[in-house]
Amino acid sequence: MNKYNFDEINNRRNTNSVKWDVKDNELPMWVADMDFKVLPEIKAAIKKRSELDSYGYIDIPKDYFSSYRYWYKNRHSLDIKEDEMVYVSGVVAGIDSVFKHLLHKGDGVIVMTPVYHIFYNCIKNNGLKQFDNEFIYRNGKYVIDFEGLENLAKKDEVKALLLCNPHNPIGKLFSSEELAKIAKICENYGVFIISDEIHGDIVKPGKENVSILKVSDKAVALVSPSKTFNMAGLQAACIFVKDQKLKEKIETAVGQDDIGEPNYFSPFATIAAYTYGEKYVNELNEYIFNNKKYIQEYLKKYLPHLHLINNDATYLLWLDISYYKMDGKEFANRLREETGLYVSNGNQFGKGGDSFMRINIATSLANIKEACKRLQLFVSKLN
Ligand SMILES: Cc1ncc(COP(=O)(O)O)c(C=O)c1O
Repeated sequence: MNKYNFDEINNRRNTNSVKWDVKDNELPMWVADMDFKVLPEIKAAIKKRSELDSYGYIDIPKDYFSSYRYWYKNRHSLDIKEDEMVYVSGVVAGIDSVFKHLLHKGDGVIVMTPVYHIFYNCIKNNGLKQFDNEFIYRNGKYVIDFEGLENLAKKDEVKALLLCNPHNPIGKLFSSEELAKIAKICENYGVFIISDEIHGDIVKPGKENVSILKVSDKAVALVSPSKTFNMAGLQAACIFVKDQKLKEKIETAVGQDDIGEPNYFSPFATIAAYTYGEKYVNELNEYIFNNKKYIQEYLKKYLPHLHLINNDATYLLWLDISYYKMDGKEFANRLREETGLYVSNGNQFGKGGDSFMRINIATSLANIKEACKRLQLFVSKLN
């Protein structure tokens, strides 16, 4: 018997939601947040805090780091200790701070494209140089271009690899062997790995996301309960760093950027999530991957020219629209204008994304069914 009802979603219209404050006829399936109700214990933790009549500065509660330790040990078999963690207000803020203080202007950073578009801002805004290691896309599948990665890593100016693990938008789970190979290449050429693992909990039931820290003690990983527990608006994250010298530098960086002080609510929400969230995440993953299965079958039956990438992670689907010989941006814009279905165009994710779109399926099955109908309506006019 399931404990949580993911069919029952929140009405987020007119709530200042980035995702849902759109036109009445629009069905937003773009930005990466979920429509499901949060874990009741998270709500209770926030309610308890809100009932205190003063919302002043706070210290990071001791249990904050131990809740991460517990979750990562149980769920990811990753042994990360409390003194190997740095509080940070967001994953992107953390990446920015590491880039700003640990790299030098002009240094090169490798990204595996197509990738989460904000990575490009982190590189550009910190005066760094972007080097694209595009995935090889062959027969509808993605593989890592290791040779290309090594050629980039060899360059003197290249100092870091910003990894998205698991990968947004292609939904790839990296295997231990792939991660070990990436780590080896980077180690050989002195390239520092920063691994964004924010989507690491959302995996197909039976699968597991492997942290970069399992294959490299020199890397850093950025994690957060925000995607998993639908609490991105609370802004809390953590940097995992085993090397104590590196940790000191990161703590200084985060302090200098004023992003190391906790929000009044978020540490308590985090503790509740990681303490009570096991069953919720199990059922959530089942629900999400059922949504995916529904779409997969629908496409096979009614829209066979749209190719869905078979991914095992994230609630983001990556759909190849190349059959229609239309730019991803035009496809997504017209889809929105003509049917109200609002998805992300693939172009924004950089090299290799032009003939794709990304669909966020962290919503009710009813919305998924409606989205499929709208997509079919749109595509039927293209044929
Ligand atoms: C890969 C990835 N990293 C980071 C973020 C944002 O994290 P934060 O809100 O903690 O900065 C997102 C949000 O979509 C994401 O997909």
